[in-house]
Parts: sequence; structure tokens; C-alpha cells
Amino acid sequence: MAAMVPTIEWTEKAVRILDQTQLPHTVVYRECTDYRMVARAIRELAIRGAPAIGVAAAMGAALGARAIQSRDRADFLKQFHIICDEIRTARPTAVNLFWALDRVERAAKSSTASSTGALKEELVALGKLMLDEDIVLNKQLGRVGAALIPDHASILTHCNTGSLATGGYGTALGVIRAAVESGKRVHVYVDETRPVLQGARLTAWELLQDQIPCTLITDSMAGSLMRRGKIDICIVGADRIAANGDTANKIGTYSVAVLAKAHRLPFYVAAPMSTIDFNLASGESIPIEERDPEEVTSMPTASGRVVTAPKGVPVYNPAFDVTPAALIRAIITERGAVPPGQLRKLKAMARAVVRERRSSSPDLKARAERPVRSTRRPIT
Ligand code: MRU
Repeated sequence: MAAMVPTIEWTEKAVRILDQTQLPHTVVYRECTDYRMVARAIRELAIRGAPAIGVAAAMGAALGARAIQSRDRADFLKQFHIICDEIRTARPTAVNLFWALDRVERAAKSSTASSTGALKEELVALGKLMLDEDIVLNKQLGRVGAALIPDHASILTHCNTGSLATGGYGTALGVIRAAVESGKRVHVYVDETRPVLQGARLTAWELLQDQIPCTLITDSMAGSLMRRGKIDICIVGADRIAANGDTANKIGTYSVAVLAKAHRLPFYVAAPMSTIDFNLASGESIPIEERDPEEVTSMPTASGRVVTAPKGVPVYNPAFDVTPAALIRAIITERGAVPPGQLRKLKAMARAVVRERRSSSPDLKARAERPVRSTRRPIT
């Protein structure tokens, strides 16, 4: 595998974000020196993908914390809360944004740091840890999912769920990477993913870098390929999974799931536990972001946007859709792969792991190498 370009880095002076709006034409970074710049990078899709958004939010919050002048702890926490709340408004659907900010706020409140200076350092360390953790968890998730990929599989994927969408390695694309690393031969069909072209611009870019065989198709070609027997399995990521397994992901995912059902193909969702929102009973209550009509009426090119629709045409641009649990064969997480109806089992397992970790505190790298335990027999 090629060395992956880092999506996000903490550089002491700034949070350095690879500007994905410029890919695949230019590799350029945004140096975010304050939390508002990070929130803006999230809003403008310079950094996108649920896990990457979570890491960016945590690092943005750490930047914000560092700039707080007050040495009074209660006042510091009040200002930190305001900063976190502002970052929370960046995008509504990916639950990792809220998960990450809740985590850093909890850490700040429960910290026993002797001064606000020490607390700031703890928050910076937590932001960096969350980046490292994300990569470790993605590799675990990849190993779980790779077991479900047959040798010589022809795989359809939608949007970008790779290194760019996470701290590194990827979720659904991480499963594909892990399958290839384990010696399986695969071919990936990449949906271009209108309107923002995450598939064409980002997934195709990552797969070419890794020399994983792939073919780019427009979203409307998927059904025809399935009908002709060209696809064996579908695997996508998630922005938010409700407790019953209903899954919000990039617009067009639902269509792929319906097509997979019609052609009796397995449809898998790969996501870390942090993408599961156990507070929501079903996908009905997942907030769906609506974005600028310009994304639909124009296309990005190396030299700017090209308008493709008549001026003034009414546009509907929901960025995500919800795939009902009934269309999903299994949800693949770092804790195991289960049918959507059994997500709560993984939650109970995660609690047990946290208890175990607290008592033994193994370092992250050791955890990455550890075999993944499974509570149930594998799903095929
Ligand atoms: O609008 P985006 O590009 O942030 O949407 C991203 C997706 O829908 C991804 O599939 C999802 O976040 C999973 S990323 C591992």
C-alpha cells in the first residue's frame, strides 16, 4: 500500500487539514490557527467524512481551549463550552462531530489538572489521541470486515470512506484495504457520488494510489452492472446509525441498497462504534443536512465550477439519505460484524472493553495488533 497522505495533523502552531475540495487536482493544506477556521473547513467539506469530522472537531476544540485567557477553572469551562457549541453547528448529520465534542467536554469537566494551563495541554493531547485511536479502530474494523469479502470479489462502493474520510485507513475502504492486504484479489466499482463527487475525486484517487483495481461509474450505472452480474457485494460507510440499524449515509446510498436487495446482493455498512447513535430509536429522527443548490447546478473542475443547469431552477440538495435496517446484511464495526438488529450487543461489549482497558491501560499500538474478538459466528 502507498503511504497515505495525512488528512489532518496537529502541528503545535495549527491544525493542518488537507483541503479535499481541491482534490484530485491539487494537494494543498489549510493551516487552521483558530477553532473557527476548523469549523469552516468542516462546513466547506475541506475535511469531510464522519470520523475525520470528529477528529477535526476535537482538534478544533483544543485550538479554542488554548486561546482561552481565563485562569479561573469555572470560567474556562464556560468559555470552552461556548467554543464547542459553535463547532457543533458546522454540520448536522455525522454524529461523530457531536460524539467528539461531548467527549472533549466530558474530559475537560472531569480533569484533575492543577491549572487551566495544564488542562489546555490535556485537551491538546486528547485531540491527538483521538486521531491515533481512529486509525487503530479503523484497522480493527478492516480486519473484521475483510473476513466477509470473498476472494475475487467485485465490490461496489459509494462516496469516500477511505483515509481521507477518517484519521487514516478508512472504514468501508479500510475493509477493502484489509482484504487486499490479506491477499484477496478484488475489483472495486466506484460510484462517482453526485453532486460533490466524493467517489470520482477522492475514492478513485485513493484506490489508484494504492494500486487497487477499480473502475469509476456514474451513480445511475450501478443497477445495470448488478443486473449483468458484475457486482458481488456492496459496502458503504455511515454518518449516523440509529439504535435499530437504520443508517444515514451519503445521498444515493439508499438507492444502492434497494438495488442490492433487488439483485439479492449483500449490502454491508462499515462504521466505528462512535458513528452509532444509541439515543435515536430509528433513522426517522436523524437530521439530514441540506446543502447549497450550487452543488447541484454546477460541477467542480480544476479551473473552478462549471455551471450545468439553467440559472434560477429550483433545486433540492439533501446531502444524505437513510437506508432502512431491513436492507442491510450486517454492520461492521471494530467490535465485530452483526445484523443491524443486534447493535446493542456491541454496545454492551464496548462497555466491557472500556472497563478492561481502565484496569490494564494497554497502549494503542498493542491494541491494534490484538486479534478481534467476536461474540457470534461470522455472517456471510
Ligand atoms: O458529505 P460527506 O463527504 O462528509 O459525506 C461522507 C459520507 O457520507 C461517508 O460515507 C461517511 O461519512 C462515512 S466516512 C468513513
